Amino acid sequence: MRTLYCGNVTKDHLDQEITLCGWVNRRRDHGGVIFVDLRDREGIMQVVFDPDRPEIFQVAEHIRNEFVLQVTGKVRLRPEGTENPDLPTGAVEMLANELTVLNQSETPPFQLDDEDVNEESRLRYRYIDLRRPEMQQRLQKRVQVVQAFRAYLDRNGFLDVETPMLTKATPEGARDYLVPSRTHPGSFFALPQSPQLFKQLLMMSGLDRYYQVVRCFRDEDLRADRQPEFTQLDIETSFLTQEDIMQMMEEMMREVFKSTLHVELPNPFPRMSYAEAMQRFGSDKPDMRIPLELVDITDLMAAVEFKVFSGPAKDKNGRVAVLRLPAGGELTRKEIDDYTSFVGNYGAKGLAYIKCNDVAQGRDGLQSPILKFLPDDVIQQIIARTEAINGDLLFFGADKATVVNDALGALRVKLGLDRGLVESEWQPLWVIDFPMFEWDEKEKRWNALHHPFTAPNFEQAQQLIDNPGESLSKAYDMVLNGTEIGGGSVRIHQQDMQRAVFDVLNISPHEAENKFGFLLTALKFGCPPHGGIAFGLDRLVMLMTGSTSIRDVMAFPKTQTAMCPLTDAPAEVSEQQLKELSLRLRAKAKD
Ligand code: AMO
Ligand code: AMP
Repeated sequence: MRTLYCGNVTKDHLDQEITLCGWVNRRRDHGGVIFVDLRDREGIMQVVFDPDRPEIFQVAEHIRNEFVLQVTGKVRLRPEGTENPDLPTGAVEMLANELTVLNQSETPPFQLDDEDVNEESRLRYRYIDLRRPEMQQRLQKRVQVVQAFRAYLDRNGFLDVETPMLTKATPEGARDYLVPSRTHPGSFFALPQSPQLFKQLLMMSGLDRYYQVVRCFRDEDLRADRQPEFTQLDIETSFLTQEDIMQMMEEMMREVFKSTLHVELPNPFPRMSYAEAMQRFGSDKPDMRIPLELVDITDLMAAVEFKVFSGPAKDKNGRVAVLRLPAGGELTRKEIDDYTSFVGNYGAKGLAYIKCNDVAQGRDGLQSPILKFLPDDVIQQIIARTEAINGDLLFFGADKATVVNDALGALRVKLGLDRGLVESEWQPLWVIDFPMFEWDEKEKRWNALHHPFTAPNFEQAQQLIDNPGESLSKAYDMVLNGTEIGGGSVRIHQQDMQRAVFDVLNISPHEAENKFGFLLTALKFGCPPHGGIAFGLDRLVMLMTGSTSIRDVMAFPKTQTAMCPLTDAPAEVSEQQLKELSLRLRAKAKD
């Protein structure tokens, strides 16, 4: 029906007769001539209808936005002065001599170039939203990225193997999406939170190197970078060390960035321990583009009179830290108040600050409501440690370490973005040496920081049982610009170590058998040392395309409340279907 895409017409086609198919992006009537911007996947081409051809001119007078046209005509140069340098096809236009309206369109629910369309409408009419050139470009970029990953992995001997969607719960920390079984009344499949257990089994099968571009399902609170179903680039290898895996994965990432974005990522990627990341940046996924750091002053505060600071300083789980904002002295009262409510979202009870007008003068050169609580030598040490200079502002956080880290960690990023301090475009980072377990004070139990199949750095199972809090894991996260784009680990390949981990996590042998007995059995039959990683493909493409939401790089995403306005899923089902599944619904709780 056509000879080429609208977006691909160039001066090379001058004087040629071509046929285009596409959607009417815009029609303009100009002094008796009609201009139509015809749009397809590849771009926009200007088509001219001249009154000299009354048969088609009359038809052209009635076309509206989003009509689907087939037009044949000759390519010519645009008259001088009317070229559009913003369009790849902007030097040329097509003079139409045949026109077929392939389909009409009602007035669309929103204009494609309207910036203020609410997300609900965009998702309800997603097929129209996806016509927008930026959406087309994002989906195309996503394809390129996946192809580049596949090219690397195929070349390096990785086998693409599919794993089941109807399966058993995988412990990745979220709630499961469940699917009732008709043939086994009262039993449920879980949709995979990841292919974790299956990819490990494939290593036990001797596949050696596996990958899959795979859908994962997690019923968790949604955010801008989370979706209930999302795609992982999932990878597992045998007989490679942690070092081997990390090197290979960053090599892959460098190659993908180079071939799809022409970006050179650093070689090697910098690495940082979890402990250092928390200490310096209050986050296990620090955004290294931002040159601000948390400075610890817990030790200076134990003896001060100010209870807000001395309390946390004396608490073994407490922390007092400072964030220095260069030239922050110019912040207004209102801006400081706004940052105070911002940290409130992370549980901080306040945001004390000191304005540094003239640090050489000590106390007299500073300005703050908390100065009166701090002795001179403490003030001096704060200035020395933070290396504050005139014009700076110091923000303080004092609370449980987790609260201080969350609050100042988030403030650091916000200040970096608000104040234009972002230093470079791409900053990857490996975060390593995670603790194996995290103590849950409320539940009085250990939780796995990664998943329970991650190997500890202890060689002996007994060491782990004796000192769970001291063991680090062989886990690694790949962080890019403050977003965790991937995480993985070397796995446990010995039964006794796996049992020890379940022991620490208080998973009884019975429960372990019940949940992942198949994995434990498999460990008995010759399991090779193995390890891998999974990348969040949507998140990565979100970053690579400069999108602010993960939903902008998925064709049909869910809303923040995990539903789909396009199909109205999830939806009620018939009584008959419930009956077949041996299900009966509980009465809805009354308001
Ligand atoms: P993890 O749980 O860290 O590891 O997931 C890997 C990566 O997947 C992305 N991701 C998500 N993306 C969008 N929406 C979500 N709800 C979501 N949850 C996670 C993140 C994350 O880094 N089986 C292990 C991997 C392994 O050990 O090999 C796993 O799933 O970018
Ligand atoms: P207050 O004595 O409560 O008026 O607090 C004095 C200053 O300390 C104010 O600027 C508060 O915002 C700040 N502040 C209060 N609690 C904390 C906290 N936990 N961490 C940091 N600053 C705080």
